[in-house]
Amino acid sequence: MFSPKKILSFLLDTVPITNASGPKCTYYEELKELEKACIGAIVTKTMTKLPREGNPKPRLKERLDFHPDCSINSMGLPNPGVDYYVDILNKLKKPVIASVGSVTDLNEYFEIINKLQSIESVKAFEVNVSCPNIEKKALALIPEKLGELLNTLDDMKVKYLLKIPPFNFDLEFFERIANIVADSNCLGVSAINSLPNCMDIDLKSLTKVIKPRKGYGGFGGGCLLYLALAEVNRWYSFFKEHGVDKIVIGVGGITKPEAALKHFLAGASAVQIGTWYIQEGIAVFEKVWNFITNWLKEKGFSKVEEIIGIVKDL
Ligand SMILES: Cc1cc2nc3c(=O)[nH]c(=O)nc-3n(C[C@H](O)[C@H](O)[C@H](O)COP(=O)(O)O)c2cc1C
Repeated sequence: MFSPKKILSFLLDTVPITNASGPKCTYYEELKELEKACIGAIVTKTMTKLPREGNPKPRLKERLDFHPDCSINSMGLPNPGVDYYVDILNKLKKPVIASVGSVTDLNEYFEIINKLQSIESVKAFEVNVSCPNIEKKALALIPEKLGELLNTLDDMKVKYLLKIPPFNFDLEFFERIANIVADSNCLGVSAINSLPNCMDIDLKSLTKVIKPRKGYGGFGGGCLLYLALAEVNRWYSFFKEHGVDKIVIGVGGITKPEAALKHFLAGASAVQIGTWYIQEGIAVFEKVWNFITNWLKEKGFSKVEEIIGIVKDL
């Protein structure tokens, strides 16, 4: 029987927290560091078939001046390519969720997954269809292509999550995409990737804060919480209303433990942390988990599962 909750039990039944793909999870030393973190699985940087340098620097502003728990980046998927990961992922002692991307065509996803599928530590894939910082339009915004991708992944019997962008700009379009996702065998969605095309200005140099793509990059960190909560809640409600057995992983704006709690209440079965991890290192995961477990105890709940999606409408 297809049961995302069972397949993902290595994460959901342990510590339902991971790092978010991207920040400090590209190289072996970084992934080794994450082995020590209070997380149920390690998520890798989105890898492509071939090594990529990524976009010109500076390409990450990790603290914005008015909102220091927020970031803007346009990394452009710098990574050492799938063959690097084939060599190292089995050395990791925690379950791995391998994030895969494409800068060419759909075949790139399949080739990468084929190379990783037999690696014991790789328990699932996170298929990135939402990178805002490459030339190619995000696949999650092209329904026909997304459908083709999911059909083939299903035929290949891949265990995968989809890393998706916000859909707040068009809720009818969301329904269209959500129906395609619902009809597939994906385990669920990781919502959300960075908010595309944001910009900040350095008031000393009077320049934009990052160089690539005219200074427009993906926004992450504290202020993203409010968009992320709505996206998580919308996916959770969609799956519930349509009787679809899939999970939501909440990503975006977790820069304090209470924000993770809000993600669970909105419908997340697990959460990921990006910007806060860049800023404060692996201690953030334990802070969140301690807070959540204490809160559950205080309120008389016995496990996280009991609070997933329990937020009420006013
Ligand atoms: C420097 C940086 C690099 C990122 N690279 C990736 C990536 O390779 N793949 C991906 O799916 N998301 C990537 N993201 C997006 C994060 O995984 C996450 O979705 C986003 O930052 C929102 O989470 P946050 O508010 O906790 O930062 C990146 C984010 C940052 C800040």
